[in-house]
This record gives sequence, structure tokens and C-alpha cells, in this order.
Amino acid sequence: MNTGAATSMLARPIGRTGESVPVIGMGSSNTFDVGVAPDERAPLLDVLRELAAAGGSVVDTSPMYGRSEGVLGDLIEELAVRAKLWIATKVWTKGREAGEQQIGASMRELRVKRLELLQIHNLLDWQVHMPTLRALREQGKVKYLGVTHYRADAHADLERVLGAEKFDFVQFNYSLAEREAEHRLLPFCRDRGIAVMVNRPFADGAMFQRVRDKPLPPIARELGIASWGQYFLKWIVGHPAVTCVIPATAKPKHMLDNSRAGFGPVPDARQREAMAQAW
Ligand SMILES: NC(=O)c1ccc[n+]([C@@H]2O[C@H](COP(=O)([O-])OP(=O)(O)OC[C@H]3O[C@@H](n4cnc5c(N)ncnc54)[C@H](OP(=O)(O)O)[C@@H]3O)[C@@H](O)[C@H]2O)c1
Repeated sequence: MNTGAATSMLARPIGRTGESVPVIGMGSSNTFDVGVAPDERAPLLDVLRELAAAGGSVVDTSPMYGRSEGVLGDLIEELAVRAKLWIATKVWTKGREAGEQQIGASMRELRVKRLELLQIHNLLDWQVHMPTLRALREQGKVKYLGVTHYRADAHADLERVLGAEKFDFVQFNYSLAEREAEHRLLPFCRDRGIAVMVNRPFADGAMFQRVRDKPLPPIARELGIASWGQYFLKWIVGHPAVTCVIPATAKPKHMLDNSRAGFGPVPDARQREAMAQAW
């Protein structure tokens, strides 16, 4: 158990690249798909502010998420935090030309000249997009390449694709409610040095229903955990193959809460099993 009191957020290496990312980032599906009204945008500006203030940097989005890329582009510019952030988006379409156009549009919406990570969303037409992704990396417009999915029944496909093609990152679902990835996919990624970004850490919020009115179990105290959100996230971060987690929220207080899971002790294997038993 690591009990050192850290002043900066825990970070994990990106495979064998020598670079690392803070463990708690932010997703944006649904939450950032809003219009231009100040009352819709103000809380999201504060969500981003909390992420950056906590030392978090990973922001995940996709052209699938309605207006999210454009909203992120506006708010990142307003806060002037581009240099602090590590931005990931996706390509989610069929056909090479459509893919190229979509990636160009995403970069314009996000107002970036360079993406830290470009992922193939749900593996859609992945072989067709590969030459585009490789070319963008060679041109320096994209730093890392990845693939994503969000359902356990696609984990075998992810593993097959990761075995066939060299990717830096893979993004998939993993949580106390959806543990399938720990059987094969997480060990596979660890062995191969593939960085893992975890989506659906709260099973899209459903996990909070199950613990409504339930007090935190005693093990939370020894891990410096003050909320169920932190409990769920620290359990994920405790898996040694996990690089970062991207909980989504439209509430600044929840972003602050989530970011606290990136500080203090990290549960070891024994503590993780106790946490799983207790929730
Ligand atoms: N195929 C793919 O590539 C794929 C698929 C799924 C997800 N993703 C990525 O992963 C991200 C996360 O997954 P997700 O959006 O499905 O769901 P999630 O992060 O598991 O859950 C989000 C929900 O949890 C609530 N929440 C967040 N923090 C909380 C806290 N501290 N306390 C209480 N409630 C809290 C949010 O509500 P509030 O707004 O009220 O906080 C929201 O309803 C996505 O946004 C997306 O970027 C990618």
C-alpha cells in the first residue's frame, strides 16, 4: 500500500514512451453537448477549471457526442488551458475520405493544431482509417493512436485488433459493476505495454443508485476516500494495468470529488477485493 501524502495528482506512464498522464481525467459524452446559453455553459467552464486546478489533464471527446467538441473548444480557449490539457478525440464514421474530413472538423471544433490522442470509436471501419491515422502521426498532428469500445462483448475484438496492429492506447469499460476486462484484456495490455483509458467508471451513473443512502464501508477511511465517487475511481486506479480514468460530469463539485481519487493511498489487490465485497 502506498501511503505517501502526494501533493500532485498520481500519474501513470504511457506504455514505454517515457511520458505519463494524471490518473483522473474527464469524459464528455452527454455532459458537454449543450448550446450557447450562459447558464448551460458556466458549470462546464467550472468543471474544466476544477480538472485543471487539481492537476488533471486528460479530456476525452468524440464527434459522436453532439456539440461537445465545439463546446470544449470554446471553453478551453476561454480558460486559456490548452497547454495544460491532454486532448483525446475519435474518428467515428465509415470510409477513408469521410474519416479524414471528420478528423479535420474535430480539430477545428476543438481549436487544436495537434491532438494528444486519436482513437477509432467502437472500432468502426478501423482498418480503413489506419493509413489516415499513421499519416497524421507522421505529420506530427497526432501524438498517440488508439481504439475504443464500451461493451464487454467487444473485449475479444479489442484484443484481436491490439494483437494485429500497434496502438499506444485502448479505451474500454471497467468498473466495480463491469469487471470483465480484468480476466483477459487488462493483463494483455499490461504485458504488451499498451496504455489503458477506462470509460464508464460509474456505469454511466447507475452505480450511484445502488449506494444511495448507504454509508461508506470502513475500508474507505484507510484509503483516504470521502465519497462513493472516490471509492469507485480508486478501485479502478488500483488495477496496475490502468493508465487513466475518464469520469463524465456536468457538475463542478463532482469534478472536484472525482479528482480527489487521484491523491493519497492507492488500494492494493487485497484492499481492492475488500472494496468489491463491501459495495
Ligand atoms: N465507445 C466509447 O468510446 C465510449 C463509450 C462510453 C463512454 N466513453 C467515454 O467515457 C466517458 C465516461 O463514461 P460515461 O459518460 O458513460 O459515464 P460515467 O462516467 O460512468 O458516469 C457519468 C455519470 O456519473 C455522474 N457522476 C459523475 N461524477 C459523479 C460524482 N462524483 N458523484 C455522483 N455522480 C457523479 C454524472 O452525473 P453528474 O453530471 O450529475 O455529475 C453522470 O450521470 C464518456 O463521457 C466518454 O468520454 C467512451
